[in-house]
Amino acid sequence: MTFRTIKSFDLSGKTILLRVDLNVPFQDGHVTDSTRIDRLKPTIDYLKAHGARTLILSHFGRPGGAVKKEFSLAFLPPVLETQWGVPVKFASDCIGAPAKDLALSLENGQFGLLENLRFHAGEEQNDPEFAKNLAALGDIYINDAFSAAHRAHASTEGLAHLLPAGAGLLMEAELNALNSALGNPVHPVVAIVGGAKISTKLGILDHLVHKVDTLFLGGGMANTFLFARGIEIGKSLCEHDMATQARQIMQTASDHGCTILLPEYRVVVEELAPDAPFEICHNTMPKEMMAVDAAPASIALLKETLQSAKTVLWNGPLGVFEMKPFDNGTNEAAREVATLTKAGKIISVAGGGDTIAALENAGTADDFTYISTAGGAFLEWLEGKTLPGVAALMEMQNTRSPVMQT
Ligand code: 3PG
Repeated sequence: MTFRTIKSFDLSGKTILLRVDLNVPFQDGHVTDSTRIDRLKPTIDYLKAHGARTLILSHFGRPGGAVKKEFSLAFLPPVLETQWGVPVKFASDCIGAPAKDLALSLENGQFGLLENLRFHAGEEQNDPEFAKNLAALGDIYINDAFSAAHRAHASTEGLAHLLPAGAGLLMEAELNALNSALGNPVHPVVAIVGGAKISTKLGILDHLVHKVDTLFLGGGMANTFLFARGIEIGKSLCEHDMATQARQIMQTASDHGCTILLPEYRVVVEELAPDAPFEICHNTMPKEMMAVDAAPASIALLKETLQSAKTVLWNGPLGVFEMKPFDNGTNEAAREVATLTKAGKIISVAGGGDTIAALENAGTADDFTYISTAGGAFLEWLEGKTLPGVAALMEMQNTRSPVMQT
């Protein structure tokens, strides 16, 4: 895999369009997990040290091509300043006069953040005109958003065709780590997949069952599979209309020798609240209750499976980990993966914003072999898909003359 990196360019005095992923978890006015911000610091330090004038581009949430106050990035400069230790200016639009004015105001080594790219429909449509408007703001395009590289959007794909382009330090680290850990994984491979993004992940799971030996499903997604198996799921989060697809995935798994493990033992509650009274149910549950975690017996089965694994892939929490004690299942499983990793018995790779927060909550975030900052991009990478953002960097490797370092 060859692509230019930030180190290929003479950055001094140049305006850099730095595409990052600041789609960070945010609640009650606070960033609840700053990992994505923190992992960008080496790139920020590099740009500052090399005298670049950096315009930072990012999306935040899914405003759907319209300006929506709750998706504004205006809250972020003070957070970035604290985490990166540099002043960060802000422009109220990512194109047009506010963006141009911000670009012109930057001196060497300075940074400015542009408003949410997804306030313009052209971003997600990869509209050439919108991409041109972005490109007009800078000299060099650096993509440091591996976690958004599965989107063929103007700022993740289109821009690479319009400016000399390269990967940032985080993108480079992600690609190198995932490639060496997962390009040719040592079997048996156990994938642990949870979380609430059900419909977006069913297609990914379909590919995953071709690759891994065991797939343990948790979170809301598992309910759809349990439902598809005819198991009572009560009021649990479930996409009933995806049952056919879930059954197809189970059939594909069985055809390819992949065992799917579901949390048949579940922690169920009547009302979702911290410390809510709960029951443990096996295979059936009261109709008026909902599943919020995998119960100890199911986690024990997962732990037993992990003993013979060589590679473990993890995305998504196994329960409502934000609410104690419904983080128990995730915590127990994460601690086992961490223990086996520290003992040198497995390679463990995890990804996804929620995953990082869940592993941090379990106190295991530093004990995995590699933790990616990506969610959907991470899983698509696992299934071997070409990510448009990465492909564009590779295609452009030899087609545009870079502003090379002398
Ligand atoms: C993510 O959080 O996975 C990325 O920022 C991509 O976000 P999206 O799924 O809204 O494109």
